[in-house]
Amino acid sequence: MAQRIPKTLSWIGELPGTLRMIDQTRLPEEFVEIDCETVEQVWQAIKRLSVRGAPAIGVSAAYGTVIGLQDATNTSRLEFDQKLNEVTDYLASSRPTAVNLFWALERMKNVVSGIPAASPAEVLLRLLEEARAIESEDREMCAAIGRHGAPLMPNQGGVLTHCNAGGLATAGDGTALSVLFAAASVGKKIHVFADETRPLLQGARLTAWECQQRDVPVTVICDSMAALVMREKKVQAVVTGADRIAANGDAANKVGTYSVAVLAKAHGVPFYVAAPSSTFDLSLASGDLIPIEERTRDEISHGFGKQIVPDGVDVWNPAFDVTPAAFIAGIITERGVIAPVSSESVAAMLGT
Ligand code: MRU
Repeated sequence: MAQRIPKTLSWIGELPGTLRMIDQTRLPEEFVEIDCETVEQVWQAIKRLSVRGAPAIGVSAAYGTVIGLQDATNTSRLEFDQKLNEVTDYLASSRPTAVNLFWALERMKNVVSGIPAASPAEVLLRLLEEARAIESEDREMCAAIGRHGAPLMPNQGGVLTHCNAGGLATAGDGTALSVLFAAASVGKKIHVFADETRPLLQGARLTAWECQQRDVPVTVICDSMAALVMREKKVQAVVTGADRIAANGDAANKVGTYSVAVLAKAHGVPFYVAAPSSTFDLSLASGDLIPIEERTRDEISHGFGKQIVPDGVDVWNPAFDVTPAAFIAGIITERGVIAPVSSESVAAMLGT
């Protein structure tokens, strides 16, 4: 029977408060929650992927801003504002690709600049309200993405996903997985195929865990099996999340997503991206401009807890790749589906 999935992130207490999160590095072996009481702990949690997934990183950064400022209410407003800049710059340095991080920090800074006459204590209260608003809006966006995406899914069949774009990656039911959960909830017989997602195995560890918790049938495959799964017609669609989408619809997501999109095109399988408006970066004309995080060698060389690459051999570990818009059948947002994907259709949906 489906268990109740605990919240990925929760604010505990009022002010001062702490940010509780599921430590996603420990799943599926252990279910452990950690409490972040300092901004350094929030930064570390984002950096080491205890919390991960673009929307969840944004929500964490918003609460992290509150945590970083909650000891500063006895300072002058000038000192408080200086501290705000330090805290937000620091959080912004945790991971470079998911634009939701910068989007959330910008929202927090705008709150502060909008109330220049308020005392530090009043500003802090407003910052907590804003972080809560970012969290609850994300939950609503996930639900709306599910509603818009479900009709695109087959009535019966397989859907491939890459990485984890589920509840663990958001404050709600996820983006790509929200589409699949919504399709299942209206009676569609969906079988999820989860790419294991090397090197950190978010698909095998997290997507499979979430589907299991919700009684949605799931099969984990090695990333290298995606072509075969398509050729054998085991999947009728692909849905992934995104970390940053440029103005022309090019979408950065977990490394390996681009390969899946190319394979999907070659096999005539529609490839969808599901993402909220907070994942769009309209300041970038194309995906070539999206900063791609490079992570450490050991994630690949010692990925399974044992050495799998000889000492001295070079390793390259970009965490994301960019799928060109031409490979994307549609981008499922909380406002509706962008299809076909182009600068014009993106601008039309996002109202710019
Ligand atoms: O490195 P990660 O695990 O943070 O990468 C996450 C992804 O690539 C997700 O697909 C993306 O953030 C969308 S989450 C709704």
